[in-house]
Amino acid sequence: MISFTVNNKEVEVDVPDDTPLLWVLRDELGMTGTKFGCGIAQCGACTVHVDGQARRSCVTPIATLDGAYVTTIEGLADSEGLAEGELHPVQAAWIEAQAPQCGYCQSGQIMQAAALLLESPDPSDEEITASMSGNLCRCMAYIRIRKAIKIAAASQSEGVQR
Ligand code: FES
Ligand code: FES
Repeated sequence: MISFTVNNKEVEVDVPDDTPLLWVLRDELGMTGTKFGCGIAQCGACTVHVDGQARRSCVTPIATLDGAYVTTIEGLADSEGLAEGELHPVQAAWIEAQAPQCGYCQSGQIMQAAALLLESPDPSDEEITASMSGNLCRCMAYIRIRKAIKIAAASQSEGVQR
C-alpha cells in the first residue's frame, strides 16, 4: 500500500510497485487531466508536480512516491490556495493567449510552465526554452505557449490574480 497526497487529498493505493504514477492517477484515482503521449519520458504530456517539481508521471514508479505531494492539472489552482473556481495565473494566461489547438499536450505544458515560474518567476527566453523544450506539441502551438508564459509571469509580478 502506497500513501501519498494528490491535490491536497491523502490517498492510498494498492498497486504493484512499478506502476507508473500516470496510470494510478488515471485508472485508480479517475483523474484523466494528465495525458499519455509516449510513455517514455519524451513528450511531456504526462507532466505533474511532485513536491513542487515537474515530473514525467509515465516513468515515475508509484513506489517512489510514498509520502510525496503530487499536484495535477486538476489541483493546480488549489495548490496556490485560490478560491474555488479561480484559475491559476498560468491557466488564465493560457486562455488569454489562446494557447491550445487540439489541447492534447496542454495540461503537461501548463504544469511544466507552472513549475518553471515557481523556480524562476520572470524567466528569460533562454530559461523558457530550456524548461519547455521537452514538452512537445504536435499542433506547433509553441509561439502561443511562450506568449502565455510571458503573460503569466507579468501577471504574477503585478500580483494580479487573473
Ligand atoms: S507520456 Fe510521459 S513524457 Fe510522454
Ligand atoms: S495543442 Fe495539439 S498537441 Fe499541443
